[in-house]
Amino acid sequence: MHAAVITAYDTPPAYGDHPEPVAGSDNEMVVEVLAAGLHRLTRSKANGTHYSSTGTFPLVPGADGVVRDPAGKLRYAALDDTTLGTFADRTVIDPRRSVLLPDDIDPVQIAAAMNPAMSSWVALRRRVEFREGQRVLILGATGNAGRMAIQIARRFGAAQIIAAGRDTPRLADLAALGADETITLDQADRAADVDVVLDYVWGEPTVRAMTALLTARADRAAPLNWVQIGSVAGATAPIPSALLRAARLQIIGSGIGSVPARDFLAELPELAAAVTQGAITVRARAVPLADITQTWTAETDDRIVFVP
Ligand SMILES: NC(=O)c1ccc[n+]([C@@H]2O[C@H](COP(=O)([O-])OP(=O)(O)OC[C@H]3O[C@@H](n4cnc5c(N)ncnc54)[C@H](OP(=O)(O)O)[C@@H]3O)[C@@H](O)[C@H]2O)c1
Repeated sequence: MHAAVITAYDTPPAYGDHPEPVAGSDNEMVVEVLAAGLHRLTRSKANGTHYSSTGTFPLVPGADGVVRDPAGKLRYAALDDTTLGTFADRTVIDPRRSVLLPDDIDPVQIAAAMNPAMSSWVALRRRVEFREGQRVLILGATGNAGRMAIQIARRFGAAQIIAAGRDTPRLADLAALGADETITLDQADRAADVDVVLDYVWGEPTVRAMTALLTARADRAAPLNWVQIGSVAGATAPIPSALLRAARLQIIGSGIGSVPARDFLAELPELAAAVTQGAITVRARAVPLADITQTWTAETDDRIVFVP
């Protein structure tokens, strides 16, 4: 079969021949891959910077995708840490880490959406006790995950959604997705009274935003859940200790590990249904898997989805 293969962390994948996959146990099945997204997680696992990277080669990247199982059914599947991912004609999945999809779905849309959408969906469902009527600030709202976070917070009944980003022209699009207010990352004082922050940014911009928000907060005894989800501006952030003492601030992370696999799986069917129904706007660009080498470092706002 054909697959995209990485043989060293500092070189892009090459499209070529690869051995046919073999199911190793009763909990595995060989499936045909229809569409697989090039997510930030996928890139960082492929270049060795993700915390789950193992350094084992050859490596076929691809953390998830839409597949056709041996019975002809469509599934969205998330793969565990493996050297045979979804950037291949066929791969091996554990059906317990998958969800059946209707026959009429668009595989590219589902493959593009599930990873970025899941980030806010599980954060609000599984990491904080989010209630209807609460107010949400999204830091880094112009990316794929941030744009979906706006729509998901609205779906879950947020009373106010403030979308923050670094790029003012791009912020202008976010009202149409459901943002009540858009601000730059340096205007977090205008979100002083939110209940939850969904943070895709981290690094220095987060430190500045946290300081501005808490300084302007009217009731510092009101709980504030700051959910760390992404780190597009920095892997570390020097948070002043006083912020943790001066306000009822809780900083928690949301992602693979802090959310158990069973919790992700429990949320998959409802999220897949929401995407299938078109309830979440998705920016997707289908690319033939054979073009992976030249597409690997492409700068695009759309989520690239490889189609074998
Ligand atoms: N924990 C989880 O469950 C989970 C799941 C999915 C994704 N994530 C993480 O969430 C983050 C966003 O993922 P994504 O899929 O939305 O990526 P994406 O579509 O590439 O969007 C990232 C956005 O971040 C903004 N950005 C980039 N560098 C920045 C900087 N230095 N300062 C401020 N903003 C910056 C860019 O927006 P502008 O160019 O418009 O400013 C870009 O559109 C990533 O760190 C990803 O790993 C976490």
